[in-house]
Amino acid sequence: MKVISFINHKGGVGKTTLAFNYAHYLGQKNKVLFMDLDPQMAATFLFDNFEDKAFVGRIFREETVTPSAVTKNIDLLNSGSGLRLLEIKSFLHARPARAHLLKKYLAAAADKYDYCVIDTAPQIDMLLDSTIMNSQVCIIPVQSEILPILGLEAINKLIEEIRLAGNNAINYFVAVNMFSKVTNLQKKILAEMKAKYPKIVLENYIRRSIAVVEAQERKTPIFKSKKEVAADFLRMFRELDRKMVI
Ligand SMILES: Nc1ncnc2c1ncn2[C@@H]1O[C@H](COP(=O)(O)OP(=O)(O)O)[C@@H](O)[C@H]1O
Ligand SMILES: [Mg+2]
Repeated sequence: MKVISFINHKGGVGKTTLAFNYAHYLGQKNKVLFMDLDPQMAATFLFDNFEDKAFVGRIFREETVTPSAVTKNIDLLNSGSGLRLLEIKSFLHARPARAHLLKKYLAAAADKYDYCVIDTAPQIDMLLDSTIMNSQVCIIPVQSEILPILGLEAINKLIEEIRLAGNNAINYFVAVNMFSKVTNLQKKILAEMKAKYPKIVLENYIRRSIAVVEAQERKTPIFKSKKEVAADFLRMFRELDRKMVI
């Protein structure tokens, strides 16, 4: 089983959107386990399924957890309502040794699934570090329009976090999302990023399109839409297939 997580400590960059659509893409031919590790539950709402027995936080309390089948090939471990996942986060901080329970769970699930896709919260904390430690691939979505404001600093910080987590075998990629018109400044930053991390910035970008928001309102993957943006997702995911060396 390959574990692929979507990470960025900035919110609103497309983590959930990419994770949800990637899970559907993979689910065409594979068995996929989706974990929603964000207390905001955005992915859980998109899958429109939420059960106590499938609450992802149970992993860290060593309780029985049973994923829910949300499509033919995708099983979901959902986030929890209210503050439930936040409680788990503080619980983990008090008992750091429990972070290894994620590894134990993934090892036990490895025979049942081809992929595990993990959506994460926009924070750098123990849960994120544990997710990174247990992933073979991390995808860092960035919103191209805010690149000129944040520059490379935020991305450098995340890459440093991945390195510090001590997972040297990890593959990571930057996925540029919400591309509209390319300003000279954006071009310059993307060129700098490619020069600094030649292998990690994906060549295929995803444009900004209202069709993405509309698909989410219908709780459907973007591939059902005939809009050009659906092809952007497909091109990016196929590039990932080619580039992941796991
Ligand atoms: N390519 C895109 N074009 C237009 N809207 C997008 C695009 N990607 C994401 N969005 C929208 O942007 C918002 C934030 O995306 P989301 O995936 O929830 O970010 P995150 O999980 O990083 O907080 C959502 O409303 C989503 O529908
Ligand atoms: Mg999200």
